[in-house]
Amino acid sequence: MTISQAVDALRRGEVIGLPTETVYGLAADASNPEAVKRIFELKGRPADHPVIVHLASADELAAWAVDVPEAAHRLAAAFWPGPLTLILRKAAHVLDLVTGGQDTVGIRVPRHPVAQEVLRAFGGALAAPSANRFGRVSPTRRAHVLAEFGDALPIVLEGGDCEVGLESTIVDLSREGDARILRPGVLGRAALESILGPITSGATSESPRAAGTLASHYAPSTPVELVGALDPDRENVRVLTLGPVPAGYRGISLGRDPAVYGKALYAALRELDAEGAEALLVEAPPAEPAWEAVRDRLTRAATR
Ligand code: TXA
Ligand code: MG
Repeated sequence: MTISQAVDALRRGEVIGLPTETVYGLAADASNPEAVKRIFELKGRPADHPVIVHLASADELAAWAVDVPEAAHRLAAAFWPGPLTLILRKAAHVLDLVTGGQDTVGIRVPRHPVAQEVLRAFGGALAAPSANRFGRVSPTRRAHVLAEFGDALPIVLEGGDCEVGLESTIVDLSREGDARILRPGVLGRAALESILGPITSGATSESPRAAGTLASHYAPSTPVELVGALDPDRENVRVLTLGPVPAGYRGISLGRDPAVYGKALYAALRELDAEGAEALLVEAPPAEPAWEAVRDRLTRAATR
């Protein structure tokens, strides 16, 4: 499958599987309501959940958002292209299907070379949620997307293993003077604060809705338990550890480097989930800022 075949499909209003540096996305023309509707059908996602608009460069921001604050320009200059989504006030033409009927739009400029190439050749914006069925673990390699959708998604571009492996950091800048992290990511608070000064995190009742902020999300079928120590009496379990997998257990060690761990986490969850064990015991990573995004996803995976 070539880039130009994928772009032709997008022009016909089809949905494609697209690699980004965070996770693979289900991409379609953000200006075509039928195409965006098809994303929701494929994902099985409720229609009131907004999707992120992907642009080739920050230069296109003015076509999709209005009242863009100075803070957004500063973050864009520092971190785009990259794993950062900004929530801004939407331009009038942005489809309700894209915004979930809200007056805000989520915008991101991905840096994966394949995503960049597709966006530039397509010449427009791509609406793209993660390429998993609603509520399931996000895909970080092409084979994961094929496993989720099979024949229902004929075009999935190859982009290798995602470099980041966890979804983008979402920062809400839609309300003046209140920058807020709605979804933690590998681009952490310290990096954001180095540009903006102190920011808050966590949604308020007024925050735009974010699906990734549902308590239970990113969940494998096997029940996940976050544990301080592994229980030697548990049978038919798999483990996900920081240090080596102890004798007598079956599982995967992801190590003690949060970037390496985050990159490999979703593939490991999928692999262990496929073994049909009774539970997946996950050794809780340290409560440190560098682990925030990983801990966030593990906490959600353990919530049901
Ligand atoms: O890294 C990522 O962000 C990936 C890749 C494909 O770019 N995309 C992704 O999309 O994670 P998705 O749909 O799985 O999660 C997007 C999150 C959701 O929690 C959604 O609610 C939130 O972004 N979002 C999108 N537009 C929004 C808006 N206008 N207001 C609030 N949240 C928004
Ligand atoms: Mg998702």
